[in-house]
Amino acid sequence: MLHLPIEHPDFRYPESRNPYWKKLQAFRGRVFSDHETESLRGRWRTAFAPAGSAPDPSRRLHVEIGCNAAHVMLEWAHASPADAFIGIDWKYKPIFWAAEKAVKRGIPNALLFRAHAERLHYMFGPGEIDRLHVFFPDPWPRKKQWKNRFITAETLASFAPLLKADGLFHIKTDHPGYFEWMEAAVERTSHLWTIVERTNDLHAGHPDPTQLRIPEVTLFERLFIQDGIKIHSLKLQPKR
Ligand SMILES: C[S@@+](CC[C@H](N)C(=O)[O-])C[C@H]1O[C@@H](n2cnc3c(N)ncnc32)[C@H](O)[C@@H]1O
Repeated sequence: MLHLPIEHPDFRYPESRNPYWKKLQAFRGRVFSDHETESLRGRWRTAFAPAGSAPDPSRRLHVEIGCNAAHVMLEWAHASPADAFIGIDWKYKPIFWAAEKAVKRGIPNALLFRAHAERLHYMFGPGEIDRLHVFFPDPWPRKKQWKNRFITAETLASFAPLLKADGLFHIKTDHPGYFEWMEAAVERTSHLWTIVERTNDLHAGHPDPTQLRIPEVTLFERLFIQDGIKIHSLKLQPKR
């Protein structure tokens, strides 16, 4: 069988032996898995509309890549019921946990995608997203691992059209080398993005960042802060 790269338009998600692959089916409508995540491209607001009513095109759509068990996103969704939230992660179990929690807490405006975020441009249509977030993507620190890094000029170029004109793309990392790499990728796509905010020490102004809690900081961010690691942050706006 021919194995196509994940980014290829004809890539097909394989069946998985992971027991959570099947377990996710218990959350149909709440969790979208594999190619289901590409089934409503450009029309995701319909999935948030109450039964029998038309989707609200002005409803703000937030997308978090690498949401893990959606600790942050579920808090955001709970606090902003008028907005719509989609969390994406390629790991089955955290997505299962996130769905369980969303149902248990009765948070209707949060959906979970089990998918490869490299395929974001097959999941969402032009101008569909208001806010895009990637918090602490794996840094792949060794030179021979750099090819695995998620933020590249190619991903930045494919994400830019998916945001609204006044949309925002927020990236945070603990890794100075990866941050430099990201900035170089932004530079290479400077015809597509304006840097709205950049910092090498996001919590510098806070009297005691160790007191910050979810959702002000993510699960990983809390651990980095406790270890005295500075948080790097970039906010980008698409150029139109
Ligand atoms: C270091 S963790 C950060 C989790 C969370 N954002 C936080 O700050 O606490 C990175 C997350 O990204 C997910 N991830 C990594 N690469 C991914 C990809 N290509 N598509 C979807 N999820 C991915 C991992 O499974 C993991 O949950």
